[in-house]
Amino acid sequence: MKNIGVILLAAGQGTRMKSSVPKVLHPLAGKPLFLHALGVAKQLKPSAIAVVIGHEAGAVRDAYRGEDVAWVTQEQQLGTGHAVLCAKPILGDFCGDVVILSGDVPLIQECTLAAMVQTHREHNAAVTLMTAVLDMPTGYGRIVRDASGDMTGIVEEKDATAAQRQIQEVNAGVYVTTPQFLFGALQEVRNDNRQGEYYLPDVAAIGLRDGKKIATFRVDDPGEMMGINTREELARMEKTLQERINRKWMDAGVTLKDPQTTYIEEAVSIGKDTVIGPNSHLRGRTVVGERCEIDGSAYITDAEIGDGVHLRFSVVLTSCRIDRGAIIGPFAHLRPGTALGPNVHIGNFVETKEAHLGEGTKANHLTYLGDVTIGRDSNIGAGTITCNYDGFKKYRTKIGDRVQVGSDTTLVAPISLGDDVYVATATTVRHDIPAGALVFNERQERTREGWTQEKRKKMKGTNK
Ligand code: UD1
Ligand code: CA
Repeated sequence: MKNIGVILLAAGQGTRMKSSVPKVLHPLAGKPLFLHALGVAKQLKPSAIAVVIGHEAGAVRDAYRGEDVAWVTQEQQLGTGHAVLCAKPILGDFCGDVVILSGDVPLIQECTLAAMVQTHREHNAAVTLMTAVLDMPTGYGRIVRDASGDMTGIVEEKDATAAQRQIQEVNAGVYVTTPQFLFGALQEVRNDNRQGEYYLPDVAAIGLRDGKKIATFRVDDPGEMMGINTREELARMEKTLQERINRKWMDAGVTLKDPQTTYIEEAVSIGKDTVIGPNSHLRGRTVVGERCEIDGSAYITDAEIGDGVHLRFSVVLTSCRIDRGAIIGPFAHLRPGTALGPNVHIGNFVETKEAHLGEGTKANHLTYLGDVTIGRDSNIGAGTITCNYDGFKKYRTKIGDRVQVGSDTTLVAPISLGDDVYVATATTVRHDIPAGALVFNERQERTREGWTQEKRKKMKGTNK
């Protein structure tokens, strides 16, 4: 939109969260609370965005990577009116309308804000307040109107009379206003109220006193303006957002067997005809291809998963890449730097880290593959361990194509096994093995007949 400036309030501590972390940094759908409102603000393509920070200002600022906002510090949190006043150096002379958003009101939509700016401009108002009618208005500022329905002011819950608390129309904490009016009126706001704070909504009463046009804009869906002040509200909002995201993916052709227990973060993307089972978490920048099957109990962070991949029950995947057609799990742990080629099989109780496996290679049981590069069509037997760490440094293991690694093998890195190598069962390999060779440890197998019976006789009565 043309000629829009934004002020985002994010300086408060969030006392009601009872947390040592500032409220606006509590994660919602995987990202800090205030970044939701900031994201919406940016969709308006404003000329300037001022973010007011104060409590734990450094941490809040660090949570945003962009360069396109002006940070404004409110040293002491004296109230929302005082917070907005801190943005005067940035937007005081701005020619246009200023949208004021709260860092703790995350679900507001861009189209709603655009419609609100439109209303504001049509009415030529000094300030337009977003309102909503709530069944449970507790905690919000109430919109007080006279007998003819004209607004006379806003009263905060803590300052409200019992009768005023019955009012169901509330202040959403979202405003559109002109800087000239706003910063002038804020100079007049006093803190003679129950909380001893400078209330931003008081500018409405000041405007009315001076005969200015004060407009209200009612949101159709009160869900959009819900603020977060407590952990319970945060949990409820998480649910709402999750439902929104899940609906989006179902509409896009993804099957969620149990949407109630499917947690998909905002930046995730999923291809169509993928089926996701219960208790699956898709986090960060995860990308899932088409026709994948995720059986359930999956915890996936920043993973890139190709088409037709099958994640069997219970897998943990972090910062890894899985090519098309691979089958992973059950009970597999793919750690950062894992890159699996097409049709790789990783079975139960296999852990990988910085492991690059070529097409068709399999490691199906009880194995640790750390710092390893394996070619194609190799088979890693049960209980294989890459010994990549000597207590000081990490070393890589290289395994060629079509290699057969027998069960219970330890590969002491740095080490390289050429193509078509055959490692016999229970071998500790310490040296490089040339292509096509067999490697085994010399070990004699002996049998002592009757040994068990003798042993038991000797031990009788010693182990009760
Ligand atoms: C505020 C409104 C209330 C409205 C509600 C909607 C006031 C006085 N009340 O109440 O009418 O119904 O929002 O959600 O505005 N902040 C600062 N500096 C401060 C104080 C707060 O930056 O000194 C920030 C907070 O970080 C937060 C936002 O302003 O992001 C709102 O503050 P909060 O204390 O949550 O206001 P509410 O009591 O919810
Ligand atoms: Ca609030």
